[in-house]
Amino acid sequence: MNADHRLEPNAVLPKVIGHRGAAGHAPENTLSGLRKAHELGTTWVEFDVMLTAEGTPVLIHDETLGRTTDGKGRLTDHRWEDLRGLDAGAWFSSAFRGERVPSLHQALAVLGHLGLGANVEIKPSSDQDATTGVIVAKTLQESWPANLPAPLLSSFSEKALAAAADQAPEFPRALLVGKVPSDWQARCDSLGATGLHAGARQLTEKQARRVIDAGYTLRVYTVNDQALADRLFAWGAESVFSDFPDRITPP
Ligand code: G3P
Ligand code: MG
Repeated sequence: MNADHRLEPNAVLPKVIGHRGAAGHAPENTLSGLRKAHELGTTWVEFDVMLTAEGTPVLIHDETLGRTTDGKGRLTDHRWEDLRGLDAGAWFSSAFRGERVPSLHQALAVLGHLGLGANVEIKPSSDQDATTGVIVAKTLQESWPANLPAPLLSSFSEKALAAAADQAPEFPRALLVGKVPSDWQARCDSLGATGLHAGARQLTEKQARRVIDAGYTLRVYTVNDQALADRLFAWGAESVFSDFPDRITPP
């Protein structure tokens, strides 16, 4: 893909994006998390999407169920019909007992209702990169709420992002990295990605400025501290992803 044909999001993203919904306040990647982010005044959220055994896209971060649900084993060994009864809230707090793992379809309905924009992180389980990219992109093409700005797709998996781009070239993309690799620009260009989403811990001012000076949008995760956010904004970051979006005051 050529850099000249890169897509920009059709909306200006806010300075602070809710991470996994609003993961500091409500169980991550749940409908309550999306609602909580909205309640806090957040206008965009990020969440993670992975496929169940038969290929239903659902909101979850880990390949295994144990940390965020009362289920066991790998997500890819469970069908949606087995998964939908699991509790995805009690681990966080008893106030969220009965919360479920949402399907992407359910989450999209809530986003549309709340008027909440989203960065959909494609999170393939092992060896499911291309399939996950295609199914997530297809689901967004079919069911993205018409009242919202286009979703921003991102992934650590370049294979998944490339497959999503083939399926849905109309959606803007960002490459996700932990540490910024030396060839970040070539990687972004080959994906038609206009943004780089980098980990806060290892990012340097020099790298940040280089990305921005080259004309790419830099967004940084996960930022729960005002001093860090101030520094990143001063370096030119467009947005930060925060578990506590209410704790970060934009410049
Ligand atoms: O998309 C930003 C951030 O969510 C990437 O890391 O592990 O929290 O999905 P992770
Ligand atoms: Mg994520």
